[in-house]
Amino acid sequence: MNYLAKRLMVAKLHQDAIWDSGVNELDVAAVEGKRVKLVDGRKLTEFVSCSYLGLDQRQDIRDAAHSAIDLFGVQMSAARTRIRAALFGQLDDLLMSILGGWYPVTFNSVSSAHLAIVPLLASGELPGYPIAQNGPGFIMDKCTHASLQALRAIMAQFGPVERVDFQNFDNTMAACERIAASGKTIIALCDSVGSMGGTVDILAVSALTDRLGGFSYFDDAHGTSVFGQRGQGFVFHTGQTRLSEKIIVVGSLSKAFGATGGVVALSDAGAAKYLKRYSVPYAFGGPPSIPAVGSAVASANLHLDGTVHALQSELRKNTSLFDSLFSADIVNSGSQSPIRGIVVGEEFRAIDAARVLQRHGFVTTAAMYPTVELGKAMIRLAISATHTSDDIRGVARAIKSAIQGRPG
Ligand SMILES: Cc1ncc(COP(=O)(O)O)c(C=O)c1O
Repeated sequence: MNYLAKRLMVAKLHQDAIWDSGVNELDVAAVEGKRVKLVDGRKLTEFVSCSYLGLDQRQDIRDAAHSAIDLFGVQMSAARTRIRAALFGQLDDLLMSILGGWYPVTFNSVSSAHLAIVPLLASGELPGYPIAQNGPGFIMDKCTHASLQALRAIMAQFGPVERVDFQNFDNTMAACERIAASGKTIIALCDSVGSMGGTVDILAVSALTDRLGGFSYFDDAHGTSVFGQRGQGFVFHTGQTRLSEKIIVVGSLSKAFGATGGVVALSDAGAAKYLKRYSVPYAFGGPPSIPAVGSAVASANLHLDGTVHALQSELRKNTSLFDSLFSADIVNSGSQSPIRGIVVGEEFRAIDAARVLQRHGFVTTAAMYPTVELGKAMIRLAISATHTSDDIRGVARAIKSAIQGRPG
C-alpha cells in the first residue's frame, strides 16, 4: 500500500466522524470582526481564522478590493506573462520594501508558490541557486505543512527525499552531511513557524546548509506580517543581517497579511525573473484575482506605515493574556507565535471538546492526525489582535471546563 493510502486509512475513522458530527464546515451568514453569525442563527466567536492581525476585516482593505474591481473587473484571465493589472507591479515594489530588498514573486496561494519553485530549484536552472552534477538531495522536516509534503513525488524525480525531525539538530546535521558526502546539493525544507506549534531554528538550519553548499527553503506562511517591524516575517526578522542568501522563503498573503496569495522571496533578481518566465503556475496559469491584489497593495502599505507593527503589539498582549490563564503545558506557551494548542490526546476527545466549545460560543479547530501525530489530537486556537480580553478570558474558561474538567 502506498504512503498516502495508508495515511488516509488511518485518518478515515476520526476525520469522517468530525465531518458527520457537524463540528466542521460551519456555514457563516455574516462576519463582524471575530464574531460569526451562522446560517442556523448561532452567533459564535471564532478562534480559527489565521488572519492574526484582523487586517482582512478592515474597511481600508475592503475598500481597496472594491476599487480594484471597479478599475479592472473581477479577474484579468490571462497569464501575467502577457498582460497584467499595474497593481501587480505596485505590489512587487511594496513587497520588496517589506522584505528588505529580497525579490518577490506572487502567486495565487502558498501551495502554488511551492509548485512553482520546487521543480525549478531542483532542476538546477534557477539563477543564483546552482545544483551539483549529481543532483539535489532533499531533507524535509517531518512537521512541514502538507502543501510541501504533497510535492515529495515531484522532488523524487530529481533526487532522494528524506524526512527527519528538525527539532533533533544532530540527526538533521547527520542527514545533511550524508547528502553532501554523496556529492548532491542539499535542499532542506521546513516550516519556520509550525502551523501546529513550535518554530524552527532557521539560523542554525541555514548555516548548516550554507556550510555544506546547499540551500534552505522556509515556509513562513504563519510568520508573514506577525514578525518584524515591517511585518517581514519570522525568517527575515530572526535572520536580519545574519541570514544567508542561499535560502528561499515563501510567505502567505492570505493569513495575517489579510489578502489572498503566496509570495516567494529570492535573493537573486535573475531567479525572480526566471520564476516568472518558466514556473508553471506563473507562466501557464491565471493571476491572483483582482480584489486579492487590490487588498494586498493596501495591506502592504499598512506594513510599511507602522500600522502592522502596532497590531503586532495588540496580538502579543492577547497571547500573553492567554498564556497567563494556563500553566505552561499548552502548545506554544510563552511564544510569539499566535498559535496555541491544548493537547487532548485521543481523536474523539478532540471532536467532543470542539463540539462542547461551540456550545460555549467558541469556534476552534480539532487538529487530528494526519495534521498532528496519531493520539496527540489537540484543540488549536488562532489568536488575533482583534480578540477582546473578554474573548480570551471566555475561551480560556470554556477550555478549562470543557476539556480540562476544571471549573471555569
Ligand atoms: C505552513 C503552511 N504552508 C502552506 C499553507 C497553504 O497555504 P495556501 O492555502 O495559501 O496554499 C498553509 C495553509 O494553511 C500553511 O499553514
